[in-house]
Amino acid sequence: MVVEVASGDPTAGAIAVRKPALIEAKSMAKILVLVATMTGTAEMIAEDIAAAHCDRHEFAFQALEKATLEQLAGARTALVVSSTYGEGEVPEPTIPFFNLVRESRPDLSGLVYGAVTLGDNVTYPKTFANGGRLWDGLLTERGATRVGDLLVIDASDPADKSELALRWAGNWLRLIEGQRATAREVSQ
Ligand SMILES: Cc1cc2nc3c(=O)[nH]c(=O)nc-3n(C[C@H](O)[C@H](O)[C@H](O)COP(=O)(O)O)c2cc1C
Repeated sequence: MVVEVASGDPTAGAIAVRKPALIEAKSMAKILVLVATMTGTAEMIAEDIAAAHCDRHEFAFQALEKATLEQLAGARTALVVSSTYGEGEVPEPTIPFFNLVRESRPDLSGLVYGAVTLGDNVTYPKTFANGGRLWDGLLTERGATRVGDLLVIDASDPADKSELALRWAGNWLRLIEGQRATAREVSQ
């Protein structure tokens, strides 16, 4: 199910994917999915992850070139999926938002996130998959906490990319759920 996120919500303007009837309110995470892509592979990977887990969590998609500082600072859990362009840069349309975050220095200490980076190790071995690493470094620099390993996807590798992403996402979401359970215990 796809729904518009209401205004006033940090994910406003993003498109949410969810199955409300199946979501258990307590364990459900609201995940802001931030996508940086040129030809759609990163978006496809993010959609595969959301489709596989939308019965347990709520996913709100946001293209990074249209993201706002308020969305980023207001989110509690995010998944960043970015490809690489130029000479190891983030996709060109997302460079202004990348620079805005770097220059505005928002406090992202309330944000936990997972990150997926895409590249091509045969054609661009020297700058392989640097785009997602740049987002990862920027978020960490601003105080956000990455949960789990960075997932690196190589376009030149014949391995099934969705399969890799789904295996990684299963582990990542278990870590997120564990953190949320611990936070609930502490607050009780
Ligand atoms: C013009 C161009 C430049 C690229 N530069 C890099 C690069 O510097 N490093 C890298 O690892 N991959 C690079 N790539 C490969 C893409 O990141 C890779 O194909 C990725 O899967 C594309 O994802 P997307 O469909 O989400 O944009 C480049 C691709 C193109 C077409």
